[in-house]
Amino acid sequence: MNPIFVTQPYLPPLEEFIPYLEQIWESKTLTNRGPMHQRLEKELCDHLGVEHISLFANGTLALVTALQALRITGEVITTPYSFVATAHSLLWNGLTPVFADIDPVTLNLDPKKIEAAITPKTTAIVPVHCYGTPCDIDAIQTIADNYNLKVIYDAAHAFGVKRNGQSILKAGDLSILSFHATKVFNTFEGGAIISPDAKTKQRIDQLKNFGFVDEVTVVAPGINGKMSEVNAAFGLLQLQHIERAMARRAEIDAMYRTRLAGVPGLRLLEQPMPGNTSNHSYFPVLVGPDFSVTRDELYHLMKEQGIHGRRYFYPLISEFPMYRHLPSAQPGLMPVAQGISREVLCLPIYPALTDEEVHRIADTVCFAATVQHKAAA
Ligand SMILES: Cc1ncc(COP(=O)(O)O)c(C=O)c1O
Repeated sequence: MNPIFVTQPYLPPLEEFIPYLEQIWESKTLTNRGPMHQRLEKELCDHLGVEHISLFANGTLALVTALQALRITGEVITTPYSFVATAHSLLWNGLTPVFADIDPVTLNLDPKKIEAAITPKTTAIVPVHCYGTPCDIDAIQTIADNYNLKVIYDAAHAFGVKRNGQSILKAGDLSILSFHATKVFNTFEGGAIISPDAKTKQRIDQLKNFGFVDEVTVVAPGINGKMSEVNAAFGLLQLQHIERAMARRAEIDAMYRTRLAGVPGLRLLEQPMPGNTSNHSYFPVLVGPDFSVTRDELYHLMKEQGIHGRRYFYPLISEFPMYRHLPSAQPGLMPVAQGISREVLCLPIYPALTDEEVHRIADTVCFAATVQHKAAA
C-alpha cells in the first residue's frame, strides 16, 4: 500500500503553468516587484478581502520584517504552541520571547495568561491562529489597547479564514501569512504581510528590499525578502484552483468527523462558530488518557500501516535549547500547552487524499482504539 504523508502540496497540471513561464521569459523580469508580483498582490487582496499585501520569499522573513516595521523592542508575549519560526523571528530581532499558556479549546494564546505576563518591558504580542482557528482577537485587542502594545498575528495557518464574515487577517496591527509548500495556498516557498494602510505597506516594501526608497536612498537596514516572479506566477495559478482545493479539504474534514466522532478518549477540535469559516488546513486529534493507547503508540501504529501523521506541535517551542533557559519557559508555567503537545497528532489532510485513503486512516485509528493499552497488558 502507498504511504500516506500528513500533507501533499497542491500542484495544478504542469501544462497550465507553462504560459506563465512564457510571460516571464518574455518580460525578462525575474524579481524586484515585477508584473507577476504586482498581479498576485492585487489578486490576493481581492481573494482575501484585505487592502494591502506585501509578498515575501517566505513567512519567516515576513515575521522578522513585521517586527522591524513596527520597531518592536524588549519583551514580546507569544505562544509556546506553534512552529519554531514564530519565536525565532523574535530572536532574529534581538527580542525576548515571553511564553504564555494556551486556551484548552482553541489551542491559541489564552488572553488571561497574556495579561499576567505583561511587564514594563513588554511592547508587543505575537499570537498564532493555530491550525487556522481564530484567536480571541477582541480580548487580545482590549489588552493591547489597555497596555499600549502592538499585536502582530502569525496567521501562517489562516489563509482565507473569516470571522463574522470578515477576513481574520485584518485583526491587530499586522498579520503574516506563509505560502510554504505544506500550506493550503502555496507558492513553493512564500509569505506575506497584511498591512492596514498604504503607508505601512510602503515601509514594509522598503524593508523587504534592503531599505531602498529609490535608486540612491536607503533608509533602513532592510533585508532581501522579495518573492520572485516564478513564485508569484505559481501563486496566480494556484488561485485559479483554490476554491476546489478548499472544498475537497472540507469534505475530508467532514468524513473524519463522521468516522471519529465518539471514539473514546479522542478529542477533535471544535467546528467554527456560525459566521466563521475554516480552511481545514490541519486535522489534529487529541489522544487523551482514556484512549486505548498513548499518542506515541498511535503514531507508531499508524506508521506501521504506512500512515505518517505528525506530532505537530511537539516539542513545545519553549523546550528547544535556545528558549528553555527563559523564565517563562519553565514547564510548570504552561500546563495546558504541555498537555496538548503530548496528546496531539495531526492526521493527513490534503486535496488529493482519496475517500478510500481517509477511510483507511480512520479504520486504523478506530482499530487502535480497540487495542489493549500496552502499559495495562
Ligand atoms: C505558525 C507558523 N509560523 C511561521 C511559519 C514560517 O513560515 P515559512 O515556512 O513560510 O517561513 C510557519 C510554517 O512554516 C508556521 O506554521
